[in-house]
Amino acid sequence: MKLKKIEITNFRNIDSIKFFPNEGLNFFIGKNAQGKTSIIESIYYLSHLKSFRYGLPQDIIKQGENFSKLSCETIHNKNLTSELEINLFENENKTIKKSALINCKKISVLSEYIKNKSSQLASVFHSVSFNPTDHQLISGEPKIRREFINQALVAEDNEYLDLLKTYQKIIDQRNTVLKAKPVGYKNILKAFNEGYIKNAIEISLKRFFWIKKCNEEVNYFLLKIAPESEKIKLKYQSNVLTEDERENLNRELLYDKFCQKLDSNFELESRLCSTQLGPHRDDLVVNFKDKRLKMVGSQGEIRSILISLRLAEMELYYKVQNHYPLLLLDDFSSELDKVRRNFLLDFIAKSSLQVFITTTELVSSLNQKFWISNGNLLNKSDQNAESEIEL
Ligand SMILES: Nc1ncnc2c1ncn2[C@@H]1O[C@H](COP(=O)(O)OP(=O)(O)OP(=O)(O)O)[C@@H](O)[C@H]1O
Ligand SMILES: [Mg+2]
Repeated sequence: MKLKKIEITNFRNIDSIKFFPNEGLNFFIGKNAQGKTSIIESIYYLSHLKSFRYGLPQDIIKQGENFSKLSCETIHNKNLTSELEINLFENENKTIKKSALINCKKISVLSEYIKNKSSQLASVFHSVSFNPTDHQLISGEPKIRREFINQALVAEDNEYLDLLKTYQKIIDQRNTVLKAKPVGYKNILKAFNEGYIKNAIEISLKRFFWIKKCNEEVNYFLLKIAPESEKIKLKYQSNVLTEDERENLNRELLYDKFCQKLDSNFELESRLCSTQLGPHRDDLVVNFKDKRLKMVGSQGEIRSILISLRLAEMELYYKVQNHYPLLLLDDFSSELDKVRRNFLLDFIAKSSLQVFITTTELVSSLNQKFWISNGNLLNKSDQNAESEIEL
């Protein structure tokens, strides 16, 4: 799937722009703080209904305005086109109302917009982004790594989002009971067990197998990007299993351990008033040289691993869906050194990927270049634009 046209209104420092990207490589070039990341972010938003930057939804709307609008036209299978539209509206009480439309039809439940990506006749495109916030994948909280796996699986597997939603509902209900502690609440909790354990196991298994596949892909790319590098080891850390058991995770083992731990955890859960066991507390461990990557990895090693991880995510999506997601590379020049940049450009040139790259450095390439200044795309010949923004 490719983007044919994009329109952005009142998004960050962007007033109103419209552009028609190239099918292959698109560069967004400009000085600092001109709106390069905002453009990549808006494309990401159209595909994920959220930003990759941390912050509040209202931070996205242009200062002084009360709405943002993003829209695009996509093309797939050479002839099937779709239109997507996302609107953010800030109410008087400062809360944000979000709406999404696919082919002019309003989506009543927003998660259906994301779920559309993994359907057979998808209109919503998937995108994989490599940007400076990716460092949080290594150094940040487990929640960030769970989100990484979730968004990859949601795009590949049409059942996964429903599993997550059902599971979250059960956890919320269990937590309400654990907080209120009505008479006989131990038995009330037991009534949730069947659905709770079943959904927890399905999610854990899907994540485990995805990480297993990802482990192979990521090392394939790492070897290309940094041939001298040691391999990394990705492991799914289920909190119902011991270190040894995690190596051979399977449905029966998960079921037995879950039931055992659930019983022995009753006191703890009662005291903490929250559900302790299950995939909402799991983690992805990234080991390098037999230790945690965040403890031993140099900046360069971490960058090579992060970009390999994103390429692996992209490749896994391709293997399931038979077409590539869009690739969004933010801060290309500062995040990657020349060797890694050249590898990536070579990889992209040989692929059928549509790629959006932001950079503060001039690029000598025949690919589509958009020059950005003060939230505007400069509508001049490359040479004039280049001298105007004095990179
Ligand atoms: N809601 C908003 N309204 C107006 N301006 C905003 C809003 N949010 C962010 N900005 C500003 O928009 C400008 C562009 O930000 P952006 O991150 O896109 O810049 P950039 O070109 O990627 O810069 P850099 O090269 O430093 O990464 C910045 O000055 C930023 O502070
Ligand atoms: Mg930026």
